[in-house]
Amino acid sequence: MKPEKDWNFDKVIDRSNTGSMKWEPGVLGVKFGRGKENLLPLWVADMDFLSPWVARQAMEERMGHQIYGYTIMDPGYNEALISWYQRRHQWEIQSDWILTSPGVVPATNYLIQRFTSPGDKVLIQTPVYYPFAQSIVGNGRQVADNPLKINEGRYEMDFDDLAKKTADPRVKLAIFCSPHNPVGRVWAKEELEQFGKICLENNVLIFADEIHCDLIMPGYKHICFSTISDEFAQNSITASSASKTFNLAGLDQSSLIIPNERLRNEVSIHFETLGVGPRGGGTLFGAIATQAVYNGAEDWLEDLLLYLRENFYYLKTSLEQQLPGVKVFELEGTYLAWADFNPLGLSDKKIIRIIEEEAGVALDHGDWFGVNGAGFERFNIACPRAILEEAVERVVAAFKKYI
Ligand SMILES: Cc1ncc(COP(=O)(O)O)c(C=O)c1O
Repeated sequence: MKPEKDWNFDKVIDRSNTGSMKWEPGVLGVKFGRGKENLLPLWVADMDFLSPWVARQAMEERMGHQIYGYTIMDPGYNEALISWYQRRHQWEIQSDWILTSPGVVPATNYLIQRFTSPGDKVLIQTPVYYPFAQSIVGNGRQVADNPLKINEGRYEMDFDDLAKKTADPRVKLAIFCSPHNPVGRVWAKEELEQFGKICLENNVLIFADEIHCDLIMPGYKHICFSTISDEFAQNSITASSASKTFNLAGLDQSSLIIPNERLRNEVSIHFETLGVGPRGGGTLFGAIATQAVYNGAEDWLEDLLLYLRENFYYLKTSLEQQLPGVKVFELEGTYLAWADFNPLGLSDKKIIRIIEEEAGVALDHGDWFGVNGAGFERFNIACPRAILEEAVERVVAAFKKYI
């Protein structure tokens, strides 16, 4: 019998020897350098929590059949996704708008290939999730950067600069991170409206990466870009996945929601050309787990959000009180907290050295997200409090020697 509440986010779970990218010493040694194989990892964005029980249960049930041949998408997958977005985001999605994809990063690459040509520009808003720039450059396109600006301690979009950048006819596509990784903003309706309007006026197609849309802190509300107006819906492709929300990233499953029929057909044809499956891709178990969590893990998510909120306040108060000057930006969404260490007056190289070599902690360093991220650090707070406390204590002790 499944216990009524089968989760305990405080429980520390040993992830060694599971091929965890976040914890695997070999990966840490490559990413952070030799001798750093045992850093305490709060970097890559997955959670050190068990996924909801219903995901395991549904996969085990299917696994027991023991034939894992070519499998079409269960109609229940679309139904679960539609119902989830209706309940959580008041978005009425039609079933034929949904295409599946192995992941949001692969989808980003496919869309760049389909909707831009070599030499074209793709707009991003730095500091931002670094695979965006890697995908743009890797496909032979150019980055058009519309850097975010900090106004009274909060990141905002720079619309004057956006208008200038999108006026360049070589800018064909904008990758829009909503909610924003790493700065933690949940964009307000007026911001979405202005962003969408400027892109529309300049014929820039929007790829709204909304992978973090369910990780919204109490008091904030995510608005799906496509729900603002029909015009916006027709000029956008939205990426969705249960992978961040329910810790399923290893299952390689995401969806693209494309209300515009022409765009959808173009993506479908491109997917077929790439051989990622007639309906885009994804995996047998990814689809099963996604369906299960959308249908049966809302209570797990509500508890998770409260836990993350507590973790965030612990991090913010500890760092800001014990390291005067350090600023931890308000976390409106995602489980990735963004902290500015520049006020300590140390060089960004020294900040990185102290974190890695003296604190022994692996964080995503700010300059990975763009030059304007130098001296910032991103903490993945989706871990048991004990792990977060250990990391924060080590970071505080290491910096105390220098201030
Ligand atoms: C904004 C954003 N998009 C995409 C991804 C990864 O997507 P996927 O694992 O589906 O490729 C992440 C992971 O951290 C992310 O933060």
